[in-house]
Amino acid sequence: MLIAGNWKMNMDVPEGRALAQVIADRLSTHSHSFDGVDFAICPPFVHLQSVIDAVDSVPVAVGAQDMHAEDEGAYTGDVSAPMLTSVGCHYVILGHSERREYYDETDADVNRKVKQAQVHDLVPIVCVGETLEQRESGEAASVVRAQVDGALADVSIEDPGGLVVAYEPVWAIGTGESAAPEQAQEMHAVIRGDLTERYGAAVAANVPLLYGGSMKPHNAYGLLSQPDIDGGLIGSASLQADRFLGIAEEAESVLKETTS
Ligand code: PGA
Repeated sequence: MLIAGNWKMNMDVPEGRALAQVIADRLSTHSHSFDGVDFAICPPFVHLQSVIDAVDSVPVAVGAQDMHAEDEGAYTGDVSAPMLTSVGCHYVILGHSERREYYDETDADVNRKVKQAQVHDLVPIVCVGETLEQRESGEAASVVRAQVDGALADVSIEDPGGLVVAYEPVWAIGTGESAAPEQAQEMHAVIRGDLTERYGAAVAANVPLLYGGSMKPHNAYGLLSQPDIDGGLIGSASLQADRFLGIAEEAESVLKETTS
């Protein structure tokens, strides 16, 4: 189960360092073992070094929220994959709906970045999800399938640990209204099916599929207990240690329940 925080464009560097430090302290002293729960934090670029330092002694991976598809060059304002790996990033979020909406990122852009991430051993967290309009017109599954197909065109995956897909319905992001667990499961099953066709059942079954969109401690259990939901990509609730770790506690309960 992967519990990943997407800090988006929040906090200054001292605030981010302090939050990462609280999370690290709680993980090293916590009464919960968080067995089977993997953690990731994806802060803004300028926070990466201080967050990586803060979580140095605990098992929390760090990721970026985007990157450029080239190694280097005249791309003012951009950050490359080699830069991210040189600082110690493990993950990179790609194709978040906010990038698609505000920066016109297309599936082809996401595809180029996924390939670049693979070259540099960064694990892409590929985000897909339909708008409310698309859901209401019955297109949710076809939109999401097209996004997965677009992002993964000509991408081969042999190690399921080399890819994460996050289903994030646009209408649930930042709204306080998560998808219902059954609604989310239905879409995760579509994604799993698509990955199975592409990479075979053995690989597809082990690619972590995260749900994102207003996941909070109070709704996490229902979502995380769905068979095809392997974790969460958490926005606003990841900005407070109590809520972020509260979701991880729910993940731990789900895991205990399924193994008992
Ligand atoms: P949210 O954001 O949890 O604040 O809805 C999730 C995301 O956009 O990754």
